[in-house]
Amino acid sequence: MHSPLRISMKRVWNWVHIAVHHYPHGYWRQDLWLAALYLAKNPFRVSRDFWDRETEARGKRTLTGDGAGGDPAGAANTGYTPDPHTYGETPLPTMERIAARAGWTRDDVIYDLGCGRGTTTFFLEHLTKARVTGIDRVPVFVARGNGLARRLGLDRIAFLDADLLAVDYRNATALYYYGTCAHDFYIQLLIGHLAGQLRPGTKIATVTYPLTNYRPDLFTLESSERLDFLWGESEVYFQRFDPERGASVDRPGRDLSRYPQTAEEAEDAGDADP
Ligand SMILES: C[S@@+](CC[C@H](N)C(=O)[O-])C[C@H]1O[C@@H](n2cnc3c(N)ncnc32)[C@H](O)[C@@H]1O
Repeated sequence: MHSPLRISMKRVWNWVHIAVHHYPHGYWRQDLWLAALYLAKNPFRVSRDFWDRETEARGKRTLTGDGAGGDPAGAANTGYTPDPHTYGETPLPTMERIAARAGWTRDDVIYDLGCGRGTTTFFLEHLTKARVTGIDRVPVFVARGNGLARRLGLDRIAFLDADLLAVDYRNATALYYYGTCAHDFYIQLLIGHLAGQLRPGTKIATVTYPLTNYRPDLFTLESSERLDFLWGESEVYFQRFDPERGASVDRPGRDLSRYPQTAEEAEDAGDADP
Protein backbone atom coordinates (compact mmCIF):
# COMPACT_ATOMS: atom_id res chain seq x y z
CA MET A 1 0.00 0.00 0.00
CA HIS A 2 1.42 3.37 -1.00
CA SER A 3 1.67 6.45 1.23
CA PRO A 4 -0.74 9.36 0.54
CA LEU A 5 2.18 11.40 -0.84
CA ARG A 6 3.13 8.66 -3.26
CA ILE A 7 -0.52 8.30 -4.33
CA SER A 8 -0.75 12.06 -5.00
CA MET A 9 2.47 11.97 -7.02
CA LYS A 10 1.13 9.05 -9.03
CA ARG A 11 -2.10 10.93 -9.74
CA VAL A 12 -0.10 13.86 -11.09
CA TRP A 13 2.14 11.60 -13.14
CA ASN A 14 -0.87 9.74 -14.59
CA TRP A 15 -2.55 13.03 -15.46
CA VAL A 16 0.62 14.26 -17.21
CA HIS A 17 0.74 11.04 -19.23
CA ILE A 18 -2.88 11.43 -20.32
CA ALA A 19 -2.52 15.16 -21.00
CA VAL A 20 0.55 14.62 -23.18
CA HIS A 21 -0.72 11.59 -25.10
CA HIS A 22 -4.49 12.07 -25.23
CA TYR A 23 -5.40 15.74 -24.76
CA PRO A 24 -4.09 16.60 -28.25
CA HIS A 25 -6.59 14.03 -29.61
CA GLY A 26 -9.54 15.64 -27.86
CA TYR A 27 -9.68 13.71 -24.59
CA TRP A 28 -9.23 16.96 -22.62
CA ARG A 29 -12.95 17.59 -22.97
CA GLN A 30 -14.01 14.35 -21.22
CA ASP A 31 -11.26 14.59 -18.61
CA LEU A 32 -11.86 18.21 -17.61
CA TRP A 33 -15.64 17.83 -17.60
CA LEU A 34 -15.42 14.74 -15.39
CA ALA A 35 -13.13 16.62 -13.00
CA ALA A 36 -15.45 19.65 -12.94
CA LEU A 37 -18.59 17.59 -12.30
CA TYR A 38 -17.07 16.12 -9.13
CA LEU A 39 -15.30 19.21 -7.78
CA ALA A 40 -17.94 19.93 -5.14
CA LYS A 41 -18.30 16.31 -4.03
CA ASN A 42 -15.78 13.70 -5.08
CA PRO A 43 -16.89 10.32 -6.50
CA PHE A 44 -15.84 8.46 -3.38
CA ARG A 45 -18.28 10.54 -1.30
CA VAL A 46 -21.03 10.27 -3.91
CA SER A 47 -20.63 6.49 -3.89
CA ARG A 48 -20.42 6.23 -0.10
CA ASP A 49 -23.54 8.38 0.44
CA PHE A 50 -25.57 6.36 -2.06
CA TRP A 51 -24.62 2.99 -0.60
CA ASP A 52 -25.17 4.24 2.96
CA ARG A 53 -28.69 5.37 2.04
CA GLU A 54 -29.37 2.12 0.20
CA THR A 55 -28.22 -0.01 3.09
CA GLU A 56 -30.32 1.95 5.54
CA ALA A 57 -33.39 1.89 3.32
CA ARG A 58 -33.29 -1.80 2.67
CA GLY A 59 -32.24 -2.92 6.10
CA LYS A 60 -30.73 -6.36 6.13
CA ARG A 61 -29.49 -7.01 2.62
CA THR A 62 -30.31 -10.29 0.94
CA LEU A 63 -29.04 -11.96 -2.15
CA THR A 64 -32.45 -12.92 -3.41
CA GLY A 65 -34.23 -9.62 -3.07
CA ASP A 66 -37.60 -8.97 -1.54
CA GLY A 67 -38.63 -12.53 -0.98
CA ALA A 68 -38.29 -13.32 -4.67
CA GLY A 69 -36.52 -16.64 -4.16
CA GLY A 70 -35.22 -18.01 -7.42
CA ASP A 71 -35.91 -14.79 -9.29
CA PRO A 72 -32.83 -13.25 -10.90
CA ALA A 73 -34.51 -9.85 -10.98
CA GLY A 74 -34.99 -10.18 -7.24
CA ALA A 75 -31.29 -10.84 -6.83
CA ALA A 76 -30.49 -7.94 -9.11
CA ASN A 77 -32.65 -5.59 -7.09
CA THR A 78 -30.56 -6.07 -4.00
CA GLY A 79 -27.46 -4.39 -5.41
CA TYR A 80 -25.63 -6.60 -2.95
CA THR A 81 -22.05 -5.58 -2.41
CA PRO A 82 -19.91 -6.69 0.49
CA ASP A 83 -18.15 -3.40 1.04
CA PRO A 84 -20.08 -0.53 -0.47
CA HIS A 85 -17.71 2.03 1.00
CA THR A 86 -14.88 1.04 -1.26
CA TYR A 87 -14.54 3.14 -4.38
CA GLY A 88 -11.47 3.31 -6.58
CA GLU A 89 -10.69 4.07 -10.20
CA THR A 90 -8.37 2.38 -12.64
CA PRO A 91 -5.54 4.79 -13.53
CA LEU A 92 -5.91 5.68 -17.19
CA PRO A 93 -2.37 4.65 -18.22
CA THR A 94 -3.21 1.25 -16.73
CA MET A 95 -6.55 1.21 -18.58
CA GLU A 96 -4.64 1.95 -21.79
CA ARG A 97 -2.39 -1.03 -21.21
CA ILE A 98 -5.37 -3.27 -20.38
CA ALA A 99 -7.25 -2.28 -23.55
CA ALA A 100 -4.17 -2.95 -25.71
CA ARG A 101 -3.41 -6.27 -24.12
CA ALA A 102 -7.06 -7.38 -24.22
CA GLY A 103 -7.13 -6.57 -27.93
CA TRP A 104 -10.24 -4.38 -27.74
CA THR A 105 -10.87 -2.48 -30.97
CA ARG A 106 -13.49 -0.24 -32.60
CA ASP A 107 -15.41 -3.35 -33.67
CA ASP A 108 -16.03 -4.33 -30.07
CA VAL A 109 -19.04 -3.74 -27.86
CA ILE A 110 -17.53 -3.18 -24.43
CA TYR A 111 -19.32 -3.28 -21.07
CA ASP A 112 -17.66 -1.57 -18.11
CA LEU A 113 -19.06 -3.50 -15.14
CA GLY A 114 -19.27 -1.13 -12.16
CA CYS A 115 -18.15 1.96 -14.04
CA GLY A 116 -18.18 4.46 -11.17
CA ARG A 117 -18.37 8.03 -12.47
CA GLY A 118 -17.46 6.74 -15.93
CA THR A 119 -13.79 7.69 -16.17
CA THR A 120 -12.87 4.31 -17.63
CA THR A 121 -16.00 4.26 -19.81
CA PHE A 122 -15.23 7.60 -21.46
CA PHE A 123 -11.56 6.72 -21.82
CA LEU A 124 -12.24 3.33 -23.39
CA GLU A 125 -14.51 4.93 -25.99
CA HIS A 126 -11.86 7.56 -26.74
CA LEU A 127 -9.13 4.95 -26.96
CA THR A 128 -10.82 2.22 -28.97
CA LYS A 129 -13.72 4.03 -30.69
CA ALA A 130 -15.81 1.00 -29.69
CA ARG A 131 -19.36 1.19 -28.33
CA VAL A 132 -19.01 1.27 -24.57
CA THR A 133 -21.70 0.84 -21.92
CA GLY A 134 -20.97 1.70 -18.30
CA ILE A 135 -23.13 0.05 -15.63
CA ASP A 136 -23.45 1.26 -12.06
CA ARG A 137 -25.98 1.30 -9.25
CA VAL A 138 -25.19 4.89 -8.26
CA PRO A 139 -27.81 7.03 -10.08
CA VAL A 140 -25.73 10.22 -9.90
CA PHE A 141 -22.87 8.56 -11.80
CA VAL A 142 -25.24 7.27 -14.47
CA ALA A 143 -27.21 10.50 -14.91
CA ARG A 144 -24.07 12.65 -15.13
CA GLY A 145 -22.36 10.15 -17.43
CA ASN A 146 -25.30 10.14 -19.85
CA GLY A 147 -25.58 13.93 -19.61
CA LEU A 148 -21.91 14.40 -20.41
CA ALA A 149 -21.99 11.93 -23.31
CA ARG A 150 -24.94 13.87 -24.76
CA ARG A 151 -23.27 17.23 -24.22
CA LEU A 152 -20.10 16.05 -25.96
CA GLY A 153 -22.00 14.31 -28.76
CA LEU A 154 -20.53 10.90 -27.90
CA ASP A 155 -23.25 8.62 -29.20
CA ARG A 156 -21.30 5.38 -28.76
CA ILE A 157 -21.40 5.74 -24.97
CA ALA A 158 -24.31 4.82 -22.70
CA PHE A 159 -24.67 4.42 -18.96
CA LEU A 160 -27.14 2.08 -17.28
CA ASP A 161 -28.43 2.46 -13.75
CA ALA A 162 -28.67 -1.24 -12.95
CA ASP A 163 -27.26 -4.08 -10.98
CA LEU A 164 -24.74 -6.09 -12.98
CA LEU A 165 -27.07 -9.08 -12.66
CA ALA A 166 -29.94 -7.25 -14.36
CA VAL A 167 -28.17 -6.30 -17.59
CA ASP A 168 -28.54 -7.98 -20.96
CA TYR A 169 -25.02 -8.78 -22.23
CA ARG A 170 -26.00 -10.62 -25.39
CA ASN A 171 -24.38 -8.08 -27.71
CA ALA A 172 -21.17 -7.78 -25.67
CA THR A 173 -17.84 -8.76 -27.19
CA ALA A 174 -15.66 -7.39 -24.37
CA LEU A 175 -16.03 -6.85 -20.61
CA TYR A 176 -14.01 -4.94 -18.05
CA TYR A 177 -14.71 -5.91 -14.44
CA TYR A 178 -12.85 -4.18 -11.65
CA GLY A 179 -14.72 -5.98 -8.91
CA THR A 180 -11.97 -6.28 -6.34
CA CYS A 181 -14.41 -5.96 -3.44
CA ALA A 182 -17.16 -8.19 -4.78
CA HIS A 183 -17.98 -11.18 -2.67
CA ASP A 184 -17.27 -14.69 -3.96
CA PHE A 185 -20.97 -15.44 -4.07
CA TYR A 186 -21.81 -12.32 -6.02
CA ILE A 187 -19.09 -13.22 -8.53
CA GLN A 188 -20.58 -16.69 -8.89
CA LEU A 189 -24.03 -15.21 -9.49
CA LEU A 190 -22.54 -12.84 -12.05
CA ILE A 191 -20.70 -15.64 -13.86
CA GLY A 192 -23.92 -17.64 -14.00
CA HIS A 193 -25.75 -14.66 -15.48
CA LEU A 194 -22.99 -13.94 -18.01
CA ALA A 195 -22.66 -17.57 -19.02
CA GLY A 196 -26.27 -17.67 -20.09
CA GLN A 197 -25.77 -14.71 -22.43
CA LEU A 198 -22.19 -14.16 -23.60
CA ARG A 199 -20.97 -15.14 -27.02
CA PRO A 200 -18.02 -17.55 -27.15
CA GLY A 201 -14.83 -15.57 -27.62
CA THR A 202 -15.90 -12.55 -25.53
CA LYS A 203 -12.69 -10.85 -24.34
CA ILE A 204 -12.78 -10.22 -20.60
CA ALA A 205 -10.32 -8.35 -18.38
CA THR A 206 -10.65 -8.68 -14.60
CA VAL A 207 -8.62 -7.18 -11.78
CA THR A 208 -7.17 -9.27 -8.92
CA TYR A 209 -8.68 -12.65 -9.82
CA PRO A 210 -9.41 -14.56 -13.03
CA LEU A 211 -12.88 -15.93 -13.66
CA THR A 212 -11.24 -19.32 -14.23
CA ASN A 213 -10.79 -19.46 -10.44
CA TYR A 214 -14.56 -19.93 -10.29
CA ARG A 215 -15.41 -21.70 -13.54
CA PRO A 216 -12.39 -23.12 -15.40
CA ASP A 217 -14.82 -24.86 -17.76
CA LEU A 218 -16.31 -21.59 -18.99
CA PHE A 219 -13.28 -19.35 -19.54
CA THR A 220 -9.80 -19.67 -21.01
CA LEU A 221 -7.15 -17.68 -19.21
CA GLU A 222 -4.85 -16.28 -21.88
CA SER A 223 -2.44 -14.12 -19.92
CA SER A 224 -2.02 -11.84 -16.94
CA GLU A 225 0.08 -8.83 -16.10
CA ARG A 226 0.97 -6.95 -12.91
CA LEU A 227 -0.18 -3.39 -13.39
CA ASP A 228 -0.16 -0.19 -11.45
CA PHE A 229 -3.17 0.95 -9.43
CA LEU A 230 -3.14 3.88 -7.04
CA TRP A 231 -2.77 1.76 -3.91
CA GLY A 232 -0.06 -0.46 -5.43
CA GLU A 233 0.24 -3.13 -8.08
CA SER A 234 -2.45 -5.65 -8.92
CA GLU A 235 -2.65 -8.59 -11.27
CA VAL A 236 -4.94 -8.08 -14.26
CA TYR A 237 -6.24 -11.22 -15.99
CA PHE A 238 -7.12 -11.58 -19.65
CA GLN A 239 -9.54 -14.34 -20.47
CA ARG A 240 -12.08 -15.41 -23.06
CA PHE A 241 -15.51 -16.83 -22.60
CA ASP A 242 -14.95 -20.27 -23.96
CA PRO A 243 -17.56 -22.74 -22.71
CA GLU A 244 -16.49 -26.30 -23.26
CA ARG A 245 -18.89 -28.33 -25.27
CA GLY A 246 -21.46 -29.63 -22.82
CA ALA A 247 -20.24 -27.53 -19.89
CA SER A 248 -23.16 -27.00 -17.60
CA VAL A 249 -23.98 -23.34 -17.61
CA ASP A 250 -24.86 -22.28 -14.11
CA ARG A 251 -27.86 -19.98 -14.31
CA PRO A 252 -28.34 -18.87 -10.75
CA GLY A 253 -31.78 -17.47 -11.45
CA ARG A 254 -33.04 -21.02 -11.69
CA ASP A 255 -31.93 -22.05 -8.25
CA LEU A 256 -30.86 -19.31 -5.96
CA SER A 257 -31.75 -21.32 -2.90
CA ARG A 258 -28.34 -22.97 -2.83
CA TYR A 259 -26.67 -19.60 -2.59
CA PRO A 260 -26.52 -17.84 0.76
CA GLN A 261 -29.68 -15.85 1.39
CA THR A 262 -28.24 -13.09 3.53
CA ALA A 263 -25.05 -11.07 3.64
CA GLU A 264 -24.17 -12.83 6.90
CA GLU A 265 -24.56 -16.27 5.34
CA ALA A 266 -22.51 -15.14 2.39
CA GLU A 267 -19.77 -13.98 4.75
CA ASP A 268 -19.71 -17.39 6.44
CA ALA A 269 -19.81 -19.30 3.20
CA GLY A 270 -17.19 -17.02 1.66
CA ASP A 271 -14.55 -18.59 3.88
CA ALA A 272 -14.76 -21.66 1.69
CA ASP A 273 -12.78 -21.76 -1.55
CA PRO A 274 -14.78 -21.11 -4.71
C1 LIG B 1 -14.07 0.07 -7.89
S1 LIG B 1 -15.31 1.08 -8.72
C2 LIG B 1 -14.69 0.88 -10.39
C3 LIG B 1 -14.88 2.09 -11.30
C4 LIG B 1 -14.35 1.93 -12.71
N1 LIG B 1 -14.75 0.68 -13.36
C5 LIG B 1 -12.84 2.01 -12.76
O1 LIG B 1 -12.18 0.99 -12.95
O2 LIG B 1 -12.31 3.11 -12.61
C6 LIG B 1 -16.66 -0.09 -8.61
C7 LIG B 1 -18.03 0.48 -8.94
O3 LIG B 1 -18.91 -0.64 -9.02
C8 LIG B 1 -20.20 -0.23 -8.58
N2 LIG B 1 -20.93 -1.42 -8.15
C9 LIG B 1 -20.69 -2.19 -7.07
N3 LIG B 1 -21.58 -3.20 -7.02
C10 LIG B 1 -22.38 -3.08 -8.10
C11 LIG B 1 -23.48 -3.83 -8.60
N4 LIG B 1 -23.89 -4.91 -7.96
N5 LIG B 1 -24.07 -3.43 -9.74
C12 LIG B 1 -23.64 -2.32 -10.40
N6 LIG B 1 -22.58 -1.57 -9.97
C13 LIG B 1 -21.97 -1.94 -8.84
C14 LIG B 1 -19.92 0.73 -7.44
O4 LIG B 1 -21.03 1.62 -7.24
C15 LIG B 1 -18.64 1.44 -7.94
O5 LIG B 1 -18.97 2.64 -8.56
